[in-house]
Amino acid sequence: MQVRSAVLREIGATTPYEESQPIHIETLELDSPEKGEVLIQIKAASLCHSDLSVMNGSRPRPLPMALGHEAAGVIIEVGEGVTDLEPGDHIACVFVPSCGQCGPCREGRPALCEPGAASNTAGTLLGGGNRLHTETEIVNHHVGVSAFSEYAVVSRNSVVKVNKDIPFEKAALFGCAVITGVGAVVNTAGIKLGSTVAVVGLGGVGLSALLGAIAAGASRIVAVDINENKLKQAKELGATDVFNSKDPDVVEQIRKATGGGLDYAFETAGVVPAMEVAYAVTKRGGTTVTTGLPHPEHQFSFPYLSLTAEERTIKGSYLGSCVPSRDIPRYMNLFQEDRLPVDKLITDFITLEEVNKGFDILAKGDSSRIIIKF
Ligand SMILES: NC(=O)c1ccc[n+]([C@@H]2O[C@H](COP(=O)([O-])OP(=O)(O)OC[C@H]3O[C@@H](n4cnc5c(N)ncnc54)[C@H](O)[C@@H]3O)[C@@H](O)[C@H]2O)c1
Ligand SMILES: [Zn+2]
Ligand SMILES: [Zn+2]
Repeated sequence: MQVRSAVLREIGATTPYEESQPIHIETLELDSPEKGEVLIQIKAASLCHSDLSVMNGSRPRPLPMALGHEAAGVIIEVGEGVTDLEPGDHIACVFVPSCGQCGPCREGRPALCEPGAASNTAGTLLGGGNRLHTETEIVNHHVGVSAFSEYAVVSRNSVVKVNKDIPFEKAALFGCAVITGVGAVVNTAGIKLGSTVAVVGLGGVGLSALLGAIAAGASRIVAVDINENKLKQAKELGATDVFNSKDPDVVEQIRKATGGGLDYAFETAGVVPAMEVAYAVTKRGGTTVTTGLPHPEHQFSFPYLSLTAEERTIKGSYLGSCVPSRDIPRYMNLFQEDRLPVDKLITDFITLEEVNKGFDILAKGDSSRIIIKF
């Protein structure tokens, strides 16, 4: 079938993208689902920094690539062997397909699925190969999803069935921003009731972490960004303190205000200066968790002695250390009970044709989540 898709044709284009237009809206051929795959109609997709990182070269990926991964939609057709989903089911997409067979999958850590990581890096589906192409070339899939498209064929293991009561634009957030941010707090860190928390970087992931920390009973939540609008939004969502990390003495300010730092600090910006602040505001005996996906060559250094003498911990958190089929329904239940109001993250709606402009807005840090509705 033919689909309209947002295809990235240039990495490192000049900004604003609205002028350089590195993403083209093209009509592509989408093949039928193969064994273990499903055809989905995308109803809503949001712009995530990980898409932007492919555009600006921070996350090198093969081109051309059909972007987008944070999305929700409807099952249209199931491929051979898919017995637990049927046409009409609503789904949210997940950006790591998990095979269920490899070492990490058997350990209960599907976020680290080895074939999933390999296919994501290669720009293929989990089962291998591509279902998107033009007459002359293959188009790569973004993290097994490629959601800025009217329809997509994905591995069955790239989707989680969701409750039909949840509007698509809200369900879309759960497969990336929400599981990453909330999961970092409750799975990777496993914060305790009354823990003190800092969140450095208040985009879709960071604000989800903030809401997760509130839901999990954090007593104090320090929110940090370089954008004043984000600090205002964080305050409205329940941050107890906000700080602008453009201030050269932000670390001293936070350590003073919190009596020596926080039990847990989450880095959710994906840049080294944010990680430096997160580490520096973690208190003695505390844990720094990073969800950021910086350029692979960027290095983070810290005072070696502090790790030992202060019994500090640094943890990486990918996909919120989640089991998506377990955690997405859990977080959605909390959302429906108004205990995880992640819909407040949605700041803008755009059309597929406006996707380049949407990434300009995201890059400026002025929005939390921008949704394309189909
Ligand atoms: N670990 C995972 O599984 C996972 C999943 C999704 C996204 N990510 C990554 O998480 C990061 C955040 O993603 P997002 O979509 O929420 O991004 P976003 O663009 O929506 O938000 C990033 C925020 O960080 C702020 N920021 C930038 N520099 C800062 C600094 N020095 N100090 C404090 N704040 C700063 C920006 O102003 C912005 O508000 C990205 O690196 C993304 O690739 C990781
Ligand atoms: Zn994402
Ligand atoms: Zn696996």
